[in-house]
Amino acid sequence: MRPLVIYNHRMNYINKFQNQLLNWYRQKARELPWRSDPSPYKVWISEAMLQQTRVETVIPYFNRFVDEIPSVESLAEVEDERLFKLWQGLGYYRRATYLKKAAQAIVKEYNGHLPVSINELKSLPGIGAYTAGAIASIAFNIPVPAVDGNVLRVMARVNADQGNIRNPEVKKRIEELVITLIPTNNAGDFNQALMDLGAGICLPNGTPKCNECPVKEFCKAYSKGLVSTIPVKSDKKERKMLEKTILTVWWNGRMAIRKRESKGLLANLWELPNYEGFLSKEQCVLILEQLGFTVTDITTMKNARHIFTHIEWVMKGYSISVEGEGNLSDWKWVTDEEIRGIYSIPTAFQAFFPSS
Ligand code: ADE
Repeated sequence: MRPLVIYNHRMNYINKFQNQLLNWYRQKARELPWRSDPSPYKVWISEAMLQQTRVETVIPYFNRFVDEIPSVESLAEVEDERLFKLWQGLGYYRRATYLKKAAQAIVKEYNGHLPVSINELKSLPGIGAYTAGAIASIAFNIPVPAVDGNVLRVMARVNADQGNIRNPEVKKRIEELVITLIPTNNAGDFNQALMDLGAGICLPNGTPKCNECPVKEFCKAYSKGLVSTIPVKSDKKERKMLEKTILTVWWNGRMAIRKRESKGLLANLWELPNYEGFLSKEQCVLILEQLGFTVTDITTMKNARHIFTHIEWVMKGYSISVEGEGNLSDWKWVTDEEIRGIYSIPTAFQAFFPSS
């Protein structure tokens, strides 16, 4: 048996940490739309959006999404076009595809209710350890960790952990630390308090506001003067650069779009016709002639770039007017209005849109 004195000391430490963090959260919690009604569905949608996107960006997307698709059932049945339109601008469209797939599984296997258990949540498409922990703790108040990038930084500092936070073992260690601290009756607030602390106080890159931190007396990095060196993060792999040529092709007042392949980056989304490498005007004219068109005008557009997780597109573009019938089955001719209202074209192509 553990000596009672040490045990009491540890419990006091944990209670004090919890109380100070939760009191701070009660006063300073950000008002976010999914917090006023943390239904499992809303928590899930918010967490899917927040996986790769900042809170301020997500808020209007979240409101529109739950207005238009208010339930698991409606998500399971939504048309892809409408789903992608609601997602347009958030990026990482695979998240939207996973949401719909997971909704179909929830309808089929769980009668339309999100499961409560972490393992069942994790078995759904697009739900990993973090999202499962966030849903279980915020929607169901189950005391499990939800360790995202912000929480990793906060807890690495609290424990003066100098391990590389990209290392899964370090992440595991930090999850275990959260498990020892998480209250049994207020897990959702506790986890969200850590997230808010990371977003507003325990900032990265040597700019944390330690004076305003409700748990600074527990922070070993603070007491040891290590705040600016923790967290330790190994360099990311370099992104691959890909040169592309984007064509804005006009015919009879309509613009050409085409569907991307069903696998890989931006799968199944609409795109502007594009080709690998930087093509000259003459090469583009030749391509369009081979497709059965006559080119009546071609002008160079401004270059643009778009950064994905592992790849970066460096793009040059041409605005081209064509006449003739063409011999394409996979291009669609759409109006400005249809692009704005119906078809979702990823942000990567936005620089080449008429309004840009
Ligand atoms: N980031 C991810 N989930 C969040 C949440 N529920 N509150 C604040 N920031 C978050």
